[in-house]
Amino acid sequence: MPCSPLNIGDQFPNFEAETSVGKIDFYDWMQDSWAILFSHPADFTPVCTTELARVAALIPEFLKRGVKPIALSCDSVESHKRWIEDIKSFGKLTTFDYPIIADDKRVLAQQLSMLDKDELNAEGIPLTCRAVFIVDEKKKLRLSILYPATTGRNFDEILRVIDSLQLTQTKSVATPADWQQGGKCMVLPTVKAEDVPQLFPKGIETIEVPSGKGYLRTTPQP
Ligand code: BEZ
Repeated sequence: MPCSPLNIGDQFPNFEAETSVGKIDFYDWMQDSWAILFSHPADFTPVCTTELARVAALIPEFLKRGVKPIALSCDSVESHKRWIEDIKSFGKLTTFDYPIIADDKRVLAQQLSMLDKDELNAEGIPLTCRAVFIVDEKKKLRLSILYPATTGRNFDEILRVIDSLQLTQTKSVATPADWQQGGKCMVLPTVKAEDVPQLFPKGIETIEVPSGKGYLRTTPQP
């Protein structure tokens, strides 16, 4: 039976696992970084190969943000090591600088509720969906997204989400639809008018709407 799914703000469980770079203790491996754990249905599958190559190419972008990537697929370490050669070849990569967890017994897939009952392998066993977990340095879950096996993830969007998470944890703003780094932000509804000058020295703009409630307040990115 799968465990109940994790919610945003939950402590992300620690675990030990075999990976393509040896056995790890997840918390020790993270050290004081953030982590993105992203799962895959299986090794030697086309969409997964494109995703792992994309993340390998984006390693400098993740590290710039203090985020360590780690993948998971329900196959063995030996299989992962052979697959990495295909991923490097496909992505024209000289190195592959992040671990892939070998969850061939589906222990983590069950613990983290990542199994997709609609996507079965040749033996009729459910595969893992494409889960994304972003965990902060305190080991709290900051974001989770589940994609079906047939939809590859957009890692530019995942970097954008990380930028938003890291901005909004220290500034009293939220990021609007399609926000990009450097774009206008929304002032949090909880910010009182008297606190605006001190919190937003660049000023705010209030957009008029029929309700007259004055809640649509924008500010340049702090
Ligand atoms: C893929 O990675 O291409 C894939 C894996 C499982 C089901 C569908 C697609």
